[in-house]
Amino acid sequence: MSFGNSSRSSSRRPQCDVQIRWMIRRDMPEVLDIERQSFEFAWTEEDFLCCLRQRNCIGMVAERQERIVGFMIYELLKSHLHVLNFAVAPWSRRQGVGRQMVEKLVNKLSQQRRQEITLEVRETNLAAQLFFKQQGLAASNVLRGHYEDTDEDAYVMKYNLYPSDEQIIPFSLRKRVNGVDPEAEAA
Ligand SMILES: CC(C)(COP(=O)(O)OP(=O)(O)OC[C@H]1O[C@@H](n2cnc3c(N)ncnc32)[C@H](O)[C@@H]1OP(=O)(O)O)[C@@H](O)C(=O)NCCC(=O)NCCS
Repeated sequence: MSFGNSSRSSSRRPQCDVQIRWMIRRDMPEVLDIERQSFEFAWTEEDFLCCLRQRNCIGMVAERQERIVGFMIYELLKSHLHVLNFAVAPWSRRQGVGRQMVEKLVNKLSQQRRQEITLEVRETNLAAQLFFKQQGLAASNVLRGHYEDTDEDAYVMKYNLYPSDEQIIPFSLRKRVNGVDPEAEAA
């Protein structure tokens, strides 16, 4: 299965080479460092360990020159992969690390089993929305008041091996992504 097919890719900068492998306990200090620099409401070490103790939970890191530059945590559900946490170190962003991590996930999908990747993005996290959109994910749903720490909504974003036209882009996301207010346009 090709990730960078013509319908979902566009011109990009050259990307750095990273190795993407299973996360091990020894990676935790670097992973926590990236986590704290990436999120206002960061997971604690206990949050990571608690999650990774689940049988269906997988942790992976992106490594470059023996340094961890990104990580992702996802769960294997019956029909899809659900991403729980995903970040690239601030000093390694815009170099294609995140893209290679999504590519790794997409390569785990299969026609027979899991055909979809899902995740939630905070409504204020425009950078991540644009990043995942660029990787072929589309907003499909809004979860009102999804987070315990803020009043924010979450956008559910999905990647499907066999995309249909049924995915719905919420107004507010469409507005931000295109820079156009559809309500104003309709008036
Ligand atoms: C979102 C994130 C994972 C992107 O990782 P990255 O390694 O910088 O992404 P890439 O370099 O692979 O970017 C690929 C493409 O995505 C888009 N993109 C990435 N970051 C973007 C940004 N900040 N704004 C707009 N578009 C962006 C661009 O099209 C980019 O291609 P280009 O650099 O050639 O223009 C990273 O910014 C991050 O860790 N953010 C903080 C944590 C976070 O928000 N995680 C997601 C939680 S749901």
